[in-house]
Amino acid sequence: MRVAANLLLRHARELLTCAGRLPPSAARADFDPAPLGLIEDGAVAIADDRIVAVGRTAEVERAVSLTAGATVIDVGDAMLTPGLVDAHTHALFVGHRAGEFSLRVQGAGYAEIAARGGGIAASVKALRAASDEALGTTLARRLDAMTRFGTTTVEVKSGYALETGHELRSLRVVRSMGERVVPTFLGLHAVPPELRGTDDGRARYLATVAGRMLDAVVRGGDARFIDAYIDGPGFSVAECAPTLERARALGLRARLHVGQFEDVGGAELAAALGAASADHLEHVGDAGLRAMAAAGVTAVLLPGAAFSLGQAMPDARRMRALGVTVVLATDDNPGTSHCDALPWMAAFGVRQMGLSTVEAWFAITAAAAECLDLPDRGRLVPGGRADVAVLDLPSWEALPYVLGSPRALATVSGGVLREWA
Ligand code: NIG
Ligand code: FE
Repeated sequence: MRVAANLLLRHARELLTCAGRLPPSAARADFDPAPLGLIEDGAVAIADDRIVAVGRTAEVERAVSLTAGATVIDVGDAMLTPGLVDAHTHALFVGHRAGEFSLRVQGAGYAEIAARGGGIAASVKALRAASDEALGTTLARRLDAMTRFGTTTVEVKSGYALETGHELRSLRVVRSMGERVVPTFLGLHAVPPELRGTDDGRARYLATVAGRMLDAVVRGGDARFIDAYIDGPGFSVAECAPTLERARALGLRARLHVGQFEDVGGAELAAALGAASADHLEHVGDAGLRAMAAAGVTAVLLPGAAFSLGQAMPDARRMRALGVTVVLATDDNPGTSHCDALPWMAAFGVRQMGLSTVEAWFAITAAAAECLDLPDRGRLVPGGRADVAVLDLPSWEALPYVLGSPRALATVSGGVLREWA
């Protein structure tokens, strides 16, 4: 029996399924492309929002019957890959902070800029002043820009609101983008500007997030995860633990900002909470990484932020050697990583963090989807969600070789095709 399909992408010189398992780190094994599931003259057939067949074009054509009016695309020299998955962004922001970047280039520190009223507080002011419509339009435009690089799933955090009503509004706007986004509640991003400067204001904000704000977020039902900025310039473990423990009891799993500037124990907290991920990790030592490995917490690394801040890149090779799964994401935000281009992060991963190109592919596809609890994405397999990228790359090895970011010539997101000239 042939299975019906209404969309067929075929004759790709190279198709990459990412359907294999990446072996534990062991020198040469990391360079073996077998887990990528490469197929020459590849094709993928889709029925509505599901993949129904993947393989060599001749096989797929034998296995499916195209419905009347089905769309058929000859991919040719481009690559067919899983739609890319960006597992850490703050893409819900308005305005820019280019002036801050200039100050940083001249030597000002991130914490110093924040203390002068720049940083997160500046973006909070801008977001609170924006209408729902303006927020939605801005986010939709940014998601579109990401799609041009093949990204079909994007985690998006709140955290530029820092007030219950505006945090709820942020999550609602993110959620309104549909299945392509994964909304995360980041109330513990910073102390809101109006409560800064006194211990009392800080304590009051922490109590609000742990109580009223968290309750409202859970009731609203728009958030899939909870995040907290556990760092020197952020919050301590003791400050974050009550909110995160309550959130876990209420069904919100954690993905945490940890150790971007200082190791204050966030990796150990992530492990104790059974968090989905601990992200950044520029300054986290072996003890924290070992705790993450033992608890199965994924490391989400953000080379755009390290690059923009002029920091040394985190050592992904070391993390893999200790048994930690590694994911790469853009961290798209107006302060530390104004970046829509997820494939470019893979180049940093390979050239500056010690990943193999095989590992880098997994870090922006299957491993990223898994740490977002989306097991039906990030791979091209029958039954999976129809998220596909047609990338302008000559072969899988070219991912870190082509500088800048390869463009998508087309994407399929939940079965919906978009093509660009
Ligand atoms: O992931 N450091 C905390 N959060 C962001 C930066 C946010 C901002 O500066 O607006 C980050 O780098
Ligand atoms: Fe971030």
